[in-house]
Amino acid sequence: MEKTKYLIKERTEKVVLPEKLGFGQIFSDHMFQMDYSPSKGWYSPQILPVDNLMTHPASSFIHYGQTIFEGLKAFKTVKNEIIIFRPETHIERLNNSAKRICMPQVDVKFVLEALTELVRIDSDWIPTKRGESLYIRPFMYGLDPALGVRPSRDYRLVILLSPVGAYYPEGFKPVKILVQDDYVRAVRKGLGECKTAANYAASLLATEEAMKKGFTQVLWLDGVHQKYVEEVGTMNIFINFKDEVVTPKLNGSILPGVTRRSVIQILKEWGMKVTEREISIDEIISEYETGNLLGLFGSGTAAIISSIGWLTYKEKSMTFNNGEPGELDVKLFNELTSIHYGEKEDTHNWIFNVDKKGIEVS
Ligand code: COI
Repeated sequence: MEKTKYLIKERTEKVVLPEKLGFGQIFSDHMFQMDYSPSKGWYSPQILPVDNLMTHPASSFIHYGQTIFEGLKAFKTVKNEIIIFRPETHIERLNNSAKRICMPQVDVKFVLEALTELVRIDSDWIPTKRGESLYIRPFMYGLDPALGVRPSRDYRLVILLSPVGAYYPEGFKPVKILVQDDYVRAVRKGLGECKTAANYAASLLATEEAMKKGFTQVLWLDGVHQKYVEEVGTMNIFINFKDEVVTPKLNGSILPGVTRRSVIQILKEWGMKVTEREISIDEIISEYETGNLLGLFGSGTAAIISSIGWLTYKEKSMTFNNGEPGELDVKLFNELTSIHYGEKEDTHNWIFNVDKKGIEVS
């Protein structure tokens, strides 16, 4: 693999981040880019100033959606070190998504080095307030200018950086969720477990309609029976019963969240019973009525841990903890963020320290 080329734009002014960052609205100075062709493999890796991407109007990703992405985060710790949370796991998931829609694999180590260098170059863009971070968005798309429906031969991988705060407009306050049964997001053996644009396109109308009714997001039910709970628009879901925490089993139509995986591990280490299984919306309602259901929360890279304060399904509306964050959710949020900001020892080997492990920028 060729060495990465650098086209660095020196900043004349200091980076000043807005008081309220929101999500994905501003971008750092540089991006990483490399191209793929069947004869050359991945070639021409470069770090260059963020600019518009030129593409042929027939590029296959525009017409047939051959595109995938990842979302991971870099943090500045209390010791002023730069860390990235579980980067290898995210790059491996990128490769799984790539496989599902006929795209080439990337070299995990090479992409890890590329994103490490990019984060280091744009480290002034990493916010330091609790709950804020530098969101890393790698994405890959098919470039071939051809209108026949077939996998592209040529591809581009880009990595973009965006300083972010809370994902939802509510900040880290509990969100209001509508259980969606007018539309489906994904079906088993479809694309649900693949981080591809199609799943997010499928969610737009349902989310718009829910937002008009005052909800933050929708909770998807399974595509066949419209009965089993799958995931929230941008998070995996956990249901906290008195004696068990349940999260829907990965069945092919649910995104295998990296935060989901981390939460399961933490809860088990805390001695809690965590079960990955099918769970119907009817079970959630009946357990709510018997008082066995303590609350629900979502997990995701963008959202971290988000309490669900209100859940509505058809005519049934449920409120949890009087609309305040649940005890377990707060504990988990604090646990994850203390790992992110280096306040807690990383006993899981989830933290990649950019300063200690990154390669030198030439
Ligand atoms: C993430 O949590 O990184 C996601 O992928 C959600 C994103 C679609 C905003």
